[in-house]
Amino acid sequence: MKLTSYEQDVLNGKYGEGIKMAMQIQVAIGDTFEADKMVPITRAHVALSAQDADVWFAEKLLAKGAICKISPTVNPSIDIKYLNEHLHEVPDVGKNIVAACNEAYRKLGATLTFDCTPYLQQNVPAYGEVIAFSESSATPYVNSVIGARSNRESSQSALCAAITGMVPNYGLLLDENRKAEIVVEVQADVKDDFDYQILGWCYPEKYKGLEIPVFTGIKQRPTPAGYMNFGAQLNTSGCVSMYHIAGITPEAPTLEAAIGNNKIKEKIIITEKDLKETRERLCNEPSKINFAMFGCPHLNIDQVASIANVCEGRKFAVDTWILTSSLTKELAARSGYLNIIQRSGGHIVADTCIDVPPCWKPYYHTVGVTDSPKCAYYNEIRGIKFIIRPLEQCIEAAIAGEVLE
Ligand code: F3S
Repeated sequence: MKLTSYEQDVLNGKYGEGIKMAMQIQVAIGDTFEADKMVPITRAHVALSAQDADVWFAEKLLAKGAICKISPTVNPSIDIKYLNEHLHEVPDVGKNIVAACNEAYRKLGATLTFDCTPYLQQNVPAYGEVIAFSESSATPYVNSVIGARSNRESSQSALCAAITGMVPNYGLLLDENRKAEIVVEVQADVKDDFDYQILGWCYPEKYKGLEIPVFTGIKQRPTPAGYMNFGAQLNTSGCVSMYHIAGITPEAPTLEAAIGNNKIKEKIIITEKDLKETRERLCNEPSKINFAMFGCPHLNIDQVASIANVCEGRKFAVDTWILTSSLTKELAARSGYLNIIQRSGGHIVADTCIDVPPCWKPYYHTVGVTDSPKCAYYNEIRGIKFIIRPLEQCIEAAIAGEVLE
């Protein structure tokens, strides 16, 4: 890579050991991907995870004196106080790691949003902006739905980018790498947010490659939640950092525009039968449930409103957890949804992830209901079995204490 004299000075340690370490990592990544140079970023989002490796890395940079040039927003952690009051006394190991993680990121200069949908609020890029976003639903959203430019950063590489204020110029930052090579013909009616969960899980089951797909045959523009679900599942079941929907997403006004000069490597057809089979394989049979969990990724206000509409004046039979950002929780309070959900016995909890062990320990080896395949997948290792259904059906199940169909 060709570095400017400033970048070379950073690499040589002129500005301190912390930024030097971040730059060393980024130059190694750049060399690996044959980047020609470093380019500045305007935003970053770090998928903080409050787990051992994450805390180790953040503390190491901090000890070397690193500080973020571009203050990144960060993924959810855990609202320990809320869980202590409403679920269980979070074990010390959980409390300690969450406290250490939050403290390290605060001192590094991060903006502690604790939200995994920064692209909806608080850190929203514009078309063409060069940024460094980690988090599985975030990378496809910013690239595909907004047309901003981010590689599929890890939490570590995104933190390094926040510290140096730049990224190596490769991959999805370059025009030629943003064109589709796989055409996915959707011969099925994809009509609601839940259908995007299933389509997002189904595509990587049919094609495992890293190339960018363009989806055709989708007639209706997805809602923000539909896009969010789609990207989260594409990038969990598979490794899709960017996709196009012909005639809908901004870099695909037509199928031809989405493909550009590329040769199509493969054409995939997804039928109603494929979606039905994915749904049957993924979603599990009806049964009694012990709890309900939503918000992986964090729910937006429309989703919270739809939950309130279903549960108003009724009682949940099982613990019901709705995870969202602190801003959306506040908006839910102002709009009356928080009261409705709390009167039904449900919880809206901000700043919190479904995947921070051992914070959700009371549910290990039990059965839950969720609308998110990603939530189910991450919790398999803790012996939690999730039945997956559309959001409103999940709310009915939480009220009944069982999934009926
Ligand atoms: Fe968000 Fe945690 Fe799920 S970061 S997407 S709630 S695994």
